[in-house]
Amino acid sequence: MAFDATRLAAIRSDFPALERRRNGKPPIYLNNTCMTLRPRPVIEALLSYYERFPTCGGGRSLGTHDLHNWFQEELREREEAAREAVRALLGAERADEIVWTRNTSEALNIVAHGYRLEPGDEVLGSEREHNSNLVPWLEAEARLRKETGDPSLTVRRFFDLNEDGSFNVDNALAAITPRTKVVALGHASNLDGTTIADAELVAIADRIHAQGGILVLDAAQSVPHRPVDARALGVDFLACSFHKMCGPTMGALYGRYELLDALDPFVVGGDTVADTWLDRVEYKHAPGRFEAGLQDYAGMVATCAAIEYVTQEIGLAEIRAHEKVLNARLTERLLPLECDHFWVLGPRDSDKRGGVCTMASGVGAIVNAIERLGDERHNIMVRKGMFCVNSYLHRRFDQLGSSKNNLRASVYFYNTLDEIDALCEVVEEVVQNPLDHLDDA
Ligand SMILES: Cc1ncc(COP(=O)(O)O)c(C=O)c1O
Repeated sequence: MAFDATRLAAIRSDFPALERRRNGKPPIYLNNTCMTLRPRPVIEALLSYYERFPTCGGGRSLGTHDLHNWFQEELREREEAAREAVRALLGAERADEIVWTRNTSEALNIVAHGYRLEPGDEVLGSEREHNSNLVPWLEAEARLRKETGDPSLTVRRFFDLNEDGSFNVDNALAAITPRTKVVALGHASNLDGTTIADAELVAIADRIHAQGGILVLDAAQSVPHRPVDARALGVDFLACSFHKMCGPTMGALYGRYELLDALDPFVVGGDTVADTWLDRVEYKHAPGRFEAGLQDYAGMVATCAAIEYVTQEIGLAEIRAHEKVLNARLTERLLPLECDHFWVLGPRDSDKRGGVCTMASGVGAIVNAIERLGDERHNIMVRKGMFCVNSYLHRRFDQLGSSKNNLRASVYFYNTLDEIDALCEVVEEVVQNPLDHLDDA
């Protein structure tokens, strides 16, 4: 069930950006996989830091506190509440299993940089990992090549997805070899919304744990849309971003404590140290060793507000139900338009694509025209391009000439069916009259 009109209007009134008008019309924001809009309680929480206790956290993660003053005490309370909110959101056992990061990318870099791989170890991912879950592992491979002097050393390996882009657990399990040390997977795809089923993740976790390896989950596209319990899923490290769930531009890394604490630190200095001497350093235990320098305290306070808003004010189950209805309408209207110059990526069944719908064309002018007309007529904001899954798009779509010509509409709980219809009207016009739009190169 989608939110009814009254509830949706009330939800939308929480978002100041939706009150804006250009040419007399509101924005139609359909780029939610990238970054969502922010509601008033989150903006107010962000401001509250600057207005009320704009100070530094001072030695916070040691358990001892170097600073004892009025503002700092107030900040510390909120900082601890925020870390606790992330702990509860991700199903972590302890709050010190949560590291604040700038985003998912930084969180995955901390793991790929800090987890010790030996020559001969392998890291497994699918053929469609986001660059943030591919490049850090390619860099780990490059470091090992340098270390061993063997330029052909292969660390990062991949397995195929199904033809429709959905996850193939048999392929994943079959690709785990005795050398696999890390399985690093995107939980939900930012290209076609497909998500790995819980039972499949658990099967992969069991297999990799049985041989002493770890499971790393890029949960950037799942945590904002569904309950994700890292422990129940057997996940050892999990990365997510709060700007994809109404929060400020920051993220978090969850790590099972003994594994997290064993990672080598990534960015160092500042508060990462327990003590230093002129010739040596002693690092703090996790999470402090990973939180270098002064932190985004306003962001922490606002993250706490975002988690509360999304999980309590709105509800993850309700978000899922609303997105399903919107994507069903989008899919219902776009699939009949499929032809040699236009198609939808991913499974035909919109229920399998969460809130994501990506259109593609072998003719760049088609997606350019949809984007331009949508913007001009209805203030529609979508995303065009390769969405950081370049490697997959090259592999699968270079031959069709469409790897770079993709247009993604992604919804969240404040979007309406009218907004979906406005986009569909533009897509219909362009796809049914392609010759009128060939200049949109
Ligand atoms: C699946 C996935 N992983 C990782 C990221 C990177 O997230 P961030 O830009 O917050 O680091 C994204 C961003 O869209 C994503 O969709």
